[in-house]
Amino acid sequence: MNIIEIIAKKRDKKELDKNEIEYFIKEYTNGNITDYQAAALVMAIYLNGMNDDEITNLTLAMAHSGEMLDLSIFGKNVVDKHSTGGVGDKVTLILAPIIATFGIPVAKMSGRGLGFTGGTIDKLESIPGYNTGISTNDFINNVKDIGISLIGQTLNLAPADKKLYALRDSISCTDSIPLIASSIMSKKIAAGANKIVLDVTCGSGAFMKKYEEAQKLANTMNRIGKLAGKETVCVMTNMEEPLGYAVGNNLEVIEAVKFLKGDMIQDVKEVVLELGAYMIKLAGLGDNIEENKERILEKIIDGEAYNKFLQLVENQGGDISYLEDTDKFEKSKYILEVKAEKEGYISSLNARKVGELSGAIGAGRVRKEDKIDETVGIVLAKKVADFVKVGEVLAYIHVNDERLGKYALNELQNTYQISKEKIEKTKTILGVIV
Ligand code: URA
Repeated sequence: MNIIEIIAKKRDKKELDKNEIEYFIKEYTNGNITDYQAAALVMAIYLNGMNDDEITNLTLAMAHSGEMLDLSIFGKNVVDKHSTGGVGDKVTLILAPIIATFGIPVAKMSGRGLGFTGGTIDKLESIPGYNTGISTNDFINNVKDIGISLIGQTLNLAPADKKLYALRDSISCTDSIPLIASSIMSKKIAAGANKIVLDVTCGSGAFMKKYEEAQKLANTMNRIGKLAGKETVCVMTNMEEPLGYAVGNNLEVIEAVKFLKGDMIQDVKEVVLELGAYMIKLAGLGDNIEENKERILEKIIDGEAYNKFLQLVENQGGDISYLEDTDKFEKSKYILEVKAEKEGYISSLNARKVGELSGAIGAGRVRKEDKIDETVGIVLAKKVADFVKVGEVLAYIHVNDERLGKYALNELQNTYQISKEKIEKTKTILGVIV
């Protein structure tokens, strides 16, 4: 077998068999296939697609390209969640402790932000002292002790995905259904959960801009889940505008903490409740989705979920006084106000643009090795369908570099589209695919 024949086969729109896919993943991970050969094959996959068998074989080969986490000591109902990516997505910070209060083990490895999307691990690290890099043993022991641990990828999980993801990013091949589905599902399979709830985002701040595309991605991931013996549910969510108001690391932690203390922003609440209700169902703890949502709300209102978050943070070395008093979080040097220049209803607020601007002022990275600034970001004051008068604040830019702040201010002002006609609020939950 050789890579040149494999590339030619996919270039000519033929199906790759299991051996060919396994050969490619193994040899690329080992460094025996060059980046330019892999790039040619990835581009051929991007252009010509893959059928279900090919996608499943690619997913399983990627999942087995590195270590596999064994969570079987926690039983058969370990439920994981994953988002296909978005802006202002602090859902894991909120949902993980909620799920743990139901006695469902939460052993979650999360990622860092790259490009215009943020990452849970960067957000957690903005809590002084929180250690995302504990050993796998400590990770498992924490779940045994308190039912929850959230860490970065300490194990070498799905290294083929790491290489392929970076390659895809550099050759404009990110938004491909077979490549996204195999990337996400390989990591989930390697991370040891046996039930998976996926937040499949759709809109300007997502990989899939159109609902039909997001639906295809969801169907593909559900099929892979079934074939891999992992029950999977996809919740389709709107990512046309950012989720919640805060975009940026410690700003999002503050928003998440306020949520857990009972101050629930509507769109975040809808996503948390929908994903959470399905996680409880998959864990075998209740089939009635609406009742599950009520049960989640009770856990927030009686403070149990917030207390679980405190316990998680304390257990991983974090200083919980920052959560008890969020004013303690370090603030940026400047907070610039973006003001409306005309009166009307906000008709659109491109999530991707907000994510890019937040990244540009220091909240994100362009390259993996870039350092992020935890204090900077954007806090929206107005979202789609809100009414504004001239001079009213649309958003606050938290920034340490005034020049960059002024640039972001101008750009954000142009990103807000304002219309004279009344605008209806868009739906947050677009559907559920099981
Ligand atoms: N998230 C992933 O993990 N992989 C992708 O390809 C896209 C989103």
